[in-house]
Amino acid sequence: MSVRYIESKKTFLLQTKSSTYQMKISDYGYLLHLYYGERLEDEDLSYLIQLQDRGFSPNPYEAGNDRTFSLDFLPQEFSSDGSSDYRLSSIEIKNGDGSYAFVGKVAKHQIYSGKYHLAGLPSLWTTEKDTADTLEIWLTDAVTQLTVVLCYCVLEEKDIITRSVRVINQSEDTIYLNRIMSMTMDFMDSDYDFIHFDGRHTMEREWSRNPLAYGIQTVGSFRGASSHQHNPFAILCESAANEDYGRCYGFSFVYSGNFMCKVEKDQYDQTRIVMGIHPKHFSWQMKPGESFTAPEVVLAYSGQGLTHLTHLYHNVYRENLCKSPYAKKERPILINSWEAAYFDFDEEKLLKIAGDAVDMGVELFVLDDGWFGNRNNDNAALGDWDVNTAKLPRGLKGLSDEIHAMGLKFGIWIEPEMVSEDSKLYRKHPDWCLQMPRRQPSRGRYQLVLDLSREDVRDYIVTSINGVLGSARIEYVKWDMNRFITDAWSAIAEKEKQGEIYHRYILGLYDIMNRIILTHPEVLFCGCSGGGGRFDPGMLYYQPQIWCSDNTDAVCRLKIQYGTTFVYPVSAMESHVSVCPNHQTGRTVPIKTRGVTAMDGILGYELDSTKMTQEEKQICREQIQSYKKDYALIAEGDYFRLTNPYTFMEYVAWEHVSRDQKEALISLVIMEKEANDAQRCVKAKGLNPGMYYQVEEMEGHFSGQVLMSAGLPVPNGLLQYEAIQYHIRAI
Ligand code: DGJ
Repeated sequence: MSVRYIESKKTFLLQTKSSTYQMKISDYGYLLHLYYGERLEDEDLSYLIQLQDRGFSPNPYEAGNDRTFSLDFLPQEFSSDGSSDYRLSSIEIKNGDGSYAFVGKVAKHQIYSGKYHLAGLPSLWTTEKDTADTLEIWLTDAVTQLTVVLCYCVLEEKDIITRSVRVINQSEDTIYLNRIMSMTMDFMDSDYDFIHFDGRHTMEREWSRNPLAYGIQTVGSFRGASSHQHNPFAILCESAANEDYGRCYGFSFVYSGNFMCKVEKDQYDQTRIVMGIHPKHFSWQMKPGESFTAPEVVLAYSGQGLTHLTHLYHNVYRENLCKSPYAKKERPILINSWEAAYFDFDEEKLLKIAGDAVDMGVELFVLDDGWFGNRNNDNAALGDWDVNTAKLPRGLKGLSDEIHAMGLKFGIWIEPEMVSEDSKLYRKHPDWCLQMPRRQPSRGRYQLVLDLSREDVRDYIVTSINGVLGSARIEYVKWDMNRFITDAWSAIAEKEKQGEIYHRYILGLYDIMNRIILTHPEVLFCGCSGGGGRFDPGMLYYQPQIWCSDNTDAVCRLKIQYGTTFVYPVSAMESHVSVCPNHQTGRTVPIKTRGVTAMDGILGYELDSTKMTQEEKQICREQIQSYKKDYALIAEGDYFRLTNPYTFMEYVAWEHVSRDQKEALISLVIMEKEANDAQRCVKAKGLNPGMYYQVEEMEGHFSGQVLMSAGLPVPNGLLQYEAIQYHIRAI
């Protein structure tokens, strides 16, 4: 078994293929963290706990005269609150007597094969190929009887450990859970860099790396969604780590709402990292006997640098996360109407765009926003999911039939979580949106957020969207969310439960997606929140791909996609070729480069195909053919970032390598160009050093060793923003 309890040492041992995780029940019953890192065989690491009398670090009462035992410096699995640990706490409880304490001690544990289940929440699941074992440890507060169950699942072959927490109110009082971290991890050292992925609308997941400094650093979201601003993924790596070297730890939160990741470097040069639901405005009422389940954190450890960490996540997120059968199917090449027509279209115009796209090899036509109610701009009609017959006189069915007759699949855009004030739905049910008593709600894109904590609202959404999906042959749905949450107050919740609304919204969203997405396995769903405002594993559980960003400028996309690939697989990133000058930046980039960049994801087009030249169409036709030929390599191969666009300015390069190392594709885009510049060679990675390869774009044969050590010349004649691809195949 990959999980064991060693009674004689009072240690818990979790073993994956290449990593070890160890904990210990200490004197007085506290659960201490001993180690997470490179795999060790059965060694007992208890010796790492060195006790000493440290001034101003309090001692638990039961330690008596022993001043060397303090929770203020000992490494823990789940830190207590209101007692003797001044560092980041894992929990905050308001007890029935008004006190804020939780002091958990190990009460019992159980080990079983298979994975724990998180009711109502997305989480990793296991296949027959996986060996998975679970450890649950009960920490109980002796005074209140409140219990926290720490859940660990070891996916041994995948080199992954998942964690979650369940809180059970075994006391006789109603209590309030004001903070619950899904994961707490202590390190006895602090020579780490903190890597996180930040940004804004149209510039998401920008890479940021800084050494830990004393004090606390936080990333998170309080926007009701995981957000464009910070992604729920972070890395701690040794300061010397790079793509190919060093100890790296990944923390990925399977949740789509408010989240917080905090790292603290303490007075003794130790590190604590916590991750969980953002505690701001979170207060969960728990009556006696009730329990609360926190979302999952997926942990990975790589002793060989960041690329290997990425491979661990790509592998497990490709195989054990998404519930849609489309997760493992080849995705169709689409054309989307948004940047082609925005709200200004009718059936005839759409059919012309589709007609020209078929000719390029496109396989799916997606009708974006503007097809329903009186939706002629973004001020109206959200919530009214009936067809705008002025634009589409024959309805979605008429359009879908015509599209299918051309040999294309058909898809639509929806935004089910929102309501416009100018809508039939809002006029009938003004109380169905989130808004606070006696205050006007804030608007975002002139729309309000439906209260998904309410069952009647969820039922309306499920019925109306299922109605739309049944009204025509629809094979693809883009599920958008174009504003974040404010005014988180529900008209039907009691006042003591208003602190639950942010989380209940997300639980409601997952319920809706269970009832719509998972009941339509034949439909490919694409997530979207103004691009990548909700690009997280929670959404990827339901939707195999997400619109990466509203920014379609290929040059900006290189950075956005670079950051995204640290944890999310290429098969999750929908990426489109759009028109130039680009609508977001005004930049002009060759169409070949736009294609090469979009091929680093699920390739699509988002432009008016009727306005393209024959030459442009031919380039796109070739792009599509080449992408389809290499689809398995791109979507399922190992991913290598060959450059860092934040530190190396000359070009951006990346590589896909097939699992059997027989094929590889290197893509490269010239960035800052100088005249008469130096000759560069891009070095391949991940090839078999002893295998011989042919490079389609070069004469001769080369060993993997040569391509990785000496590299492939970058033609000096390439101009700024021009791209080149190297197709490498074993001979
Ligand atoms: C935001 C999306 O990201 C865009 O692609 C487009 O679908 C618009 N919403 C439509 O309103």
